[in-house]
This record gives sequence, structure tokens and C-alpha cells, in this order.
Amino acid sequence: MVEQLLGRAGLFMEKLAEPFVGREEEARVIALGIITGEHVVLIGEPGTCKSALARRAADLINARFFKYLLTKFTEPDELFGPLDINALKQGRYVRITRNKLPEAEIAFIDEIFNANSAILNMFLTIMNERILYDGYSEIKVPLWSMIAASNNVPDEPELQALYDRFLYRHFVMPVSEDKWKELLDAIWDIERGLYQNPEPILSMDDIRRLNQLVFRVSLEPIKEKLLRLYAIFEDQGIHITDRRKGKALKAIAGSAILDGRLTAKEEDLYVLKHVAPRDQDEMSQVYAILLDEIRATEKHLKELAEIEANAREAKEYILHVTDFDPRLVDYLRSFEAVRERVRKMADETSDEIVRKRALDVLSEINELIDLIKQKFMM
Ligand SMILES: Nc1ncnc2c1ncn2[C@@H]1O[C@H](COP(=O)(O)OP(=O)(O)O)[C@@H](O)[C@H]1O
Ligand SMILES: [Mg+2]
Repeated sequence: MVEQLLGRAGLFMEKLAEPFVGREEEARVIALGIITGEHVVLIGEPGTCKSALARRAADLINARFFKYLLTKFTEPDELFGPLDINALKQGRYVRITRNKLPEAEIAFIDEIFNANSAILNMFLTIMNERILYDGYSEIKVPLWSMIAASNNVPDEPELQALYDRFLYRHFVMPVSEDKWKELLDAIWDIERGLYQNPEPILSMDDIRRLNQLVFRVSLEPIKEKLLRLYAIFEDQGIHITDRRKGKALKAIAGSAILDGRLTAKEEDLYVLKHVAPRDQDEMSQVYAILLDEIRATEKHLKELAEIEANAREAKEYILHVTDFDPRLVDYLRSFEAVRERVRKMADETSDEIVRKRALDVLSEINELIDLIKQKFMM
């Protein structure tokens, strides 16, 4: 049962990315948004597949969809439905919401940051509270996820609240040069209709059940590391709003679910790449931090093992040196540098396992350096 459900989530991602070149990560972010019931914004230059991905996601989900391209001149009626004139005559303020955003479970809004102030306020409550409030009436709406697209990160202060509502922000990059040939073939296949009208894979029911699984994921194993990452981000000037700090847990749990696990692992923290950064520069910064920090224990132990192996190999060689050998000078220099590196690792790590191992390796290197110096005396 659960297995089947997880299988369908996997198939959804696979089918979503299928026609496109290098859009697996985008498919995963969209899937995360959908299983966690959160909003996703794709940001990138025109022609990078943003609309095509959203359109395909709509085809692969059996849900009530609403799609719209916003311009500066879009009126609230176009999104939320026109006012009912007959009701208005009787002094009642009612919108005819049929087939409009208030009836949608999944919405795709293109050029989202074109929202003018009237629309903006209605978006904020729809996205956060799932309530349509237009100054006169309040209607509960079934909106589950909004997928949005834009060419850039909004600078305007009045759009920041809207931007903060998107738990997932993904920067879509053009396809890299080594894949241009593949791109030509892929677009040709898309144009000739190879991928049209796919069978829906997920129903809203499936999505709700996946969402229940998300909340069953055990997050204890990663909480301490998450707090450490937040501290590093803040230190480096990457500020995450309190709302996002908490909601990131959903993203982490969602990532575990998409990998078929009910327990979060350090690797799931890579999802912060979509949650923590505000813009593309911060994205690179965050990603570098994540690469550094995630599974740091294993990485450090691996590095120490390599250092140790090199030191032992060098020792073998040095033990057999009988005459003055110019390589001794190189060895001395390089192992003095290595010693600094290992000493720093032992000093800076907050990880007892790494520290203990580093100290062991350090004493081996000290012995080696003494040995080299003895050989100089000969
Ligand atoms: N990575 C890609 N792989 C395959 N086709 C692509 C890719 N990027 C763009 N295309 C093609 O270009 C078309 C235009 O993309 P579109 O989704 O309209 O871009 P955007 O919404 O980002 O401006 C897509 O429908 C698709 O045919
Ligand atoms: Mg587009």
C-alpha cells in the first residue's frame, strides 16, 4: 500500500522529467511541493522549460487545476471570478468562482511577481490560510499547492511577503553546452507530439496520503545538524525567516519520503538548497556549505584515512633511504603542511570521532617528520 504510493510518487517525477533534458531536479522540487502541500516558484530566464514543466505536472495529476499568466494589468476578476451582478443588485457581494483560482487544488501562476496590490493581498491569504478574502467575504478554498514561475527574484519590498510564501524556490539554469545536442533531439520529439496527453499518475487522494506519510517521518536524527546549519547560514549572512526555519522540516521529511524512507538522513538536508537561499548568489553559498557539512564525519574520516595511507607509504620509502636523498626535503615540506591540516581538523571539529582519529593520525605524522629529520642528520 505505502510501497505502491511511494512508487507512484517516483513515477510522477520520472514522467515529469522524461521529455526534458536535465530537468530531474526541477521535477523533484515540484514533487516535494506537491507532497508537502507547499508552494513552489521556479525562477529562470525565458525558455528554460518552466511553463512546460508546470503544464506537464498538471497533466500528470488528476486534480482541479487553474493556470494563468499574470501581467501588470490582470484584474482580480480574471483570477478569482467576476462579481455576480444579480447578487450585487440585492446588495450581496458574491464572486462566480467557477473554474477560477478559488476552486483549484493545484494552481500554476506564470509571471507571478507581476501581481498588483489588489491581487497580491488576495494571494497572501489564499496561499497562507487557504481563504479567499477580498474585503467583503471570506471563502475557504481547496488550494493545495501553487506552482509559480518568474524570470527573476522580486526586489520590490511589497512583494517580499509573497516571495516568502514559496517554501521552495528553485533557480532553473539553461542546459549546459555538453547537452545541446540532446536538447535539439528532445525539443524535436516534444514538437512532434511524442509526449502529449500522458496518463495521470497521481490523484489528489494519493497526494493527501503521501502528505500523511510526510508527517510520519522521524526527524530526530537530523535536528541537531539542522540547527548547526542554521547557525552557519546566519553567520554567513544568509537570513532565513522564522516561518521558513520551521517549515524546512516539511521539506526534509518530504525528501525522505521521495527516497522511500520514513527516517530522515543527513542527505535530506540538501533540500535546504531550495529553502534557505533568497537569490542565486545565496544558492551557491548555501550549496557550498551543505557540501561541506553534510556527512562531514564520513568525509573527514575518509580524508584522514588517505593521509594515513600516504604517510605509511612515505615511511616505507624513507626507512630504506641510506644516502642523502633530495626527496626528503619534499617529504618534509609536504608532511609539515599535512600536519597543519590535521591539527586544524582536530582543533576545529565538534565531532569526537573525528577528533580522536585526527589526533592518532597527527602522532603518526609527527613520528614521520622526526624520522625524516633523523635521516637528514646521517
Ligand atoms: N531542458 C529542456 N529540454 C527539453 N525541451 C526544452 C528544454 N528547455 C526548453 N525546452 C523547450 O522549450 C519550450 C519553451 O519552454 P517554456 O516552458 O515555455 O519556457 P519558460 O516558461 O521557462 O519561458 C518548451 O516547451 C520545450 O519544448
Ligand atoms: Mg513560461
